[in-house]
Amino acid sequence: MDISIFFLLLCLLQTLSLSSSNTLDTLRGTSLSVEKPSDKLVSENGEFSAGFFPVGDNAFCFAILLNKSSTPTVVWMANRDEPVNGRGSVLSIFADGQLILTNSLGIAIWTTKAADLTSLEVTNLQLQLQNTGNLVLHNSKGIVIWQSFDSPSDSLLPQQALTMMSSLISRKSQDDYSSGNYKLFFDNDNVLRLLFQGPTMSSLYWPDPWLTDPGQAGRSMYNTSRLALLHDLGYFESSDNFQFNATDFGVVTHRRLTLDPDGNLRLYSLQKMNGSWDWVVTWQAFSDPCRIHGICGPNSLCSYDPVSGRRCTCLQGFKLKDQTDWSYGCEPEFSIPCNHTDESSFVQLARAEFYGSDMFFHQNVTFQFCQEQCLNRCDCNGFQYNYNEGSGYYNCYPKYLLMSGHQSPNFVGDFYLRLPKAGLFYSKIPDDEFKLQCSANLSKQIIRTYENKTVKLLLWFATAVGGMEVTCVLLVWLFLLRTSKHPNPDPTSQGYLLTTKFKRFTFDELRKATRGFKEVIGRGAGGTVYKGVLPDQRVAAIKRLDEANQGEAEFLAEVSTIGMLNHMYLIEMWGYCAEGKHKLLVYEYMEHGSLAENISSNALDWKKRFEIAVGTAKGLAYLHEECLEWVLHCDVKPQNILLDSNFQPKVADFGLSKLVSRSMNDHSSFSRMRGTRGYMAPEWIYNLPITSKVDVYSYGIVLLEMVTGKSPSGIHTSDSGETREHKRLVTLVKEYINIGTATRKSWIEEIIDPMMFGKYDKVKMELLVKVALQCVAEDRDERPSMNQVVEMLIGHED
Ligand SMILES: *[C@@H]1O[C@H](CO)[C@@H](O)[C@H](O)[C@H]1NC(C)=O
Ligand SMILES: *[C@@H]1O[C@H](CO)[C@@H](O)[C@H](O)[C@H]1NC(C)=O
Ligand SMILES: *[C@@H]1O[C@H](CO)[C@@H](O)[C@H](O)[C@H]1NC(C)=O
Ligand SMILES: *[C@@H]1O[C@H](CO)[C@@H](O)[C@H](O)[C@H]1NC(C)=O
Ligand SMILES: *[C@@H]1O[C@H](CO)[C@@H](O)[C@H](O)[C@H]1NC(C)=O
Ligand SMILES: *[C@@H]1O[C@H](CO)[C@@H](O)[C@H](O)[C@H]1NC(C)=O
Ligand SMILES: *[C@@H]1O[C@H](CO)[C@@H](O)[C@H](O)[C@H]1NC(C)=O
Ligand SMILES: *[C@@H]1O[C@H](CO)[C@@H](O)[C@H](O)[C@H]1NC(C)=O
Ligand SMILES: *[C@@H]1O[C@H](CO)[C@@H](O)[C@H](O)[C@H]1NC(C)=O
Repeated sequence: MDISIFFLLLCLLQTLSLSSSNTLDTLRGTSLSVEKPSDKLVSENGEFSAGFFPVGDNAFCFAILLNKSSTPTVVWMANRDEPVNGRGSVLSIFADGQLILTNSLGIAIWTTKAADLTSLEVTNLQLQLQNTGNLVLHNSKGIVIWQSFDSPSDSLLPQQALTMMSSLISRKSQDDYSSGNYKLFFDNDNVLRLLFQGPTMSSLYWPDPWLTDPGQAGRSMYNTSRLALLHDLGYFESSDNFQFNATDFGVVTHRRLTLDPDGNLRLYSLQKMNGSWDWVVTWQAFSDPCRIHGICGPNSLCSYDPVSGRRCTCLQGFKLKDQTDWSYGCEPEFSIPCNHTDESSFVQLARAEFYGSDMFFHQNVTFQFCQEQCLNRCDCNGFQYNYNEGSGYYNCYPKYLLMSGHQSPNFVGDFYLRLPKAGLFYSKIPDDEFKLQCSANLSKQIIRTYENKTVKLLLWFATAVGGMEVTCVLLVWLFLLRTSKHPNPDPTSQGYLLTTKFKRFTFDELRKATRGFKEVIGRGAGGTVYKGVLPDQRVAAIKRLDEANQGEAEFLAEVSTIGMLNHMYLIEMWGYCAEGKHKLLVYEYMEHGSLAENISSNALDWKKRFEIAVGTAKGLAYLHEECLEWVLHCDVKPQNILLDSNFQPKVADFGLSKLVSRSMNDHSSFSRMRGTRGYMAPEWIYNLPITSKVDVYSYGIVLLEMVTGKSPSGIHTSDSGETREHKRLVTLVKEYINIGTATRKSWIEEIIDPMMFGKYDKVKMELLVKVALQCVAEDRDERPSMNQVVEMLIGHED
């Protein structure tokens, strides 16, 4: 029995490997599988390929790529919003003329419409990738049953028509291929338009929306054929009379018309530059990107400078709503009491304009009148007051929403923002506008985990009745199940994870690097740290995790996230090793060891201590807020703050606690207590939700320790032998301050670390103590954020 199955499998394996080792342009009645990189169609001219494309860690989409550009360009995607995982997923041609993409559970993720069997013969089906980049499913008579050109993603290729049935939808970001907020389509009036479809609103922005008649933009509403086409030589024409020529019109090359993630429609040409082929913009719909709606979200201002590019800022009194996505805009930090008309006032925003959302509109009115109109309405958030040159008077537009705001030196008119009287004193946070910059690079991780094999098995047996095709796939899966019992040491199996700087090491390499794990330089949460010399002679700190029961997929997911974090005040991770139960992390090595080891030596004068305080705060602020992934450290203490040769701090051991994303920082994922006694915030003890404020608390204790030289856990304390609780350190400091204030004596002298021998900047050390005491507030809402800590410390320097 076993043997007969084995032979059956063997013979199936052979047929499968025959049919799938093709790099042909045509697939006949079989399937393409995600495990085999060679399982792809290549167009006859070798320029396009169709196959599974990695979009994240173990996440794949079926895509068509143009291979000629220096990095392959995705021109089409089947399942852009639902990637499948890297084992068992297949694209198959079904006998009824459907293409079906199934995931590892055998569930259809993406399908084409079934062919009309009454009028079509569906024998001898062939899937062919043509030289134009069109993937076509046709029957033996060459009749097209389905083609990718009919359902574009975010790009049109030459000869690919945009019709009333199709549209282009931008991707989320340069690295995130899922559907974004912008759409190019034929509107109900036959005009080709661009639409912003945001989380809270949508609005048309091209052609210019203030032109009430499309005719003013040269568009026609009368041709109902709704057809747009890009020609090979760079000429684009649409049935609404819109047309343009590429700047390199006439040149024969590859082109694509793409609706980019920033909402701009651009035509690209492939041009040879210094030996490599790269995309060059040869036409774009907008030269001023701030005129694209929704780009900065509500309650914000967009400004554009050709040199520095586009910039979003929150309005005065508003704060960024979602740190990961500007399209959510900003939210007010105040509320306007509505019936007290005298309690709000207006702030002028020169040369600023907000589009749409007018409550009403008044011609030729005074500023006073316009202001009163706004004050009379609870829902008025400000008004536009513009001089109209043609008519010679001012117009007034009170607004109930502040959308698509932009500021430009060419705009004639000002906006008056309504704020509560007290709101006039809101200070702007200077670096607010830059906070999101890293999101462009650090796109959200897409991870597909492997499904539970028992469930998979049952499902497969339920579907296995379905003939040859299914049996073949089953075979692949059984085969994989067997091989997957042995951890796959092939580093390319997780290839997408690897970047140039961040690499996967083998266990052997690391054993050699550490000379058999000889030199221990530290023991910390979850593992032991060894000193080692890598094959390229770099000195590294190698952390060997205690036998973690974490699965490989989760481990890799976390490691790849940590590996992407990059900041001058964070320790740099060079790589990792994951082989069965061996899980190791490779970090840069710090000559000066940790703050803990140096804190009680006179090596650290007040200047260094202050710099360490600022640097540590910056590193933690980056972990908490600046990038997409929100990482809580959960174990901030002097042992985890390492010092480089210039005594600049680098925060270590971050990311080993669970990574939480802002949207799901639900405290149930923190069932286990973390951290170190003496540095732990009260939330851990009282079982309250765990937020970034636990790190703020620990940081506050570290500050007190740096100023006083006294350890909260009593290990390094110079006091009498008894162990000191952190409460007592905090209480101690507070007591000295109270006594000092009462007797008008300097309290800092009483508490400062005697190792400084009285040489210190009184103002700075007092500042550290003041900030520290705010950080260790019992109520986490009273503690500042790490960003605010940085501002308090730096703000003082100026
Ligand atoms: C692209 O095409 C070239 C030549 O046809 C080939 O050598 C190369 O392997 C292809 N690259 C990919 C990623 O398919
Ligand atoms: C309508 O547009 C199509 C496609 O651009 C064009 O072929 C046709 O001539 C147009 N019809 C009229 C009446 O302009
Ligand atoms: C594009 O160029 C061709 C050839 O020079 C010209 O006939 C046509 O009018 C141009 N179209 C546009 C929209 O500029
Ligand atoms: C190509 O080389 C020229 C000079 O060798 C240089 O000025 C130019 O920036 C290079 N272009 C690109 C895209 O690298
Ligand atoms: C304003 O409204 C609040 C609640 O709606 C009410 O309690 C208060 O008396 C009102 N004040 C005036 C001056 O009308
Ligand atoms: C604007 O209003 C002023 C005062 O009401 C009036 O004198 C003037 O004629 C108006 N201008 C126009 C163009 O209507
Ligand atoms: C994003 O990446 C590009 C190239 O990889 C780099 O030039 C740019 O500085 C990066 N931006 C940020 C904010 O890190
Ligand atoms: C898989 O699922 C089955 C049934 O749902 C469950 O009994 C089994 O423990 C699961 N196995 C794993 C490894 O999660
Ligand atoms: C800081 O601590 C490290 C590790 O113990 C030690 O090697 C180094 O000498 C210390 N630095 C100073 C200046 O004492």
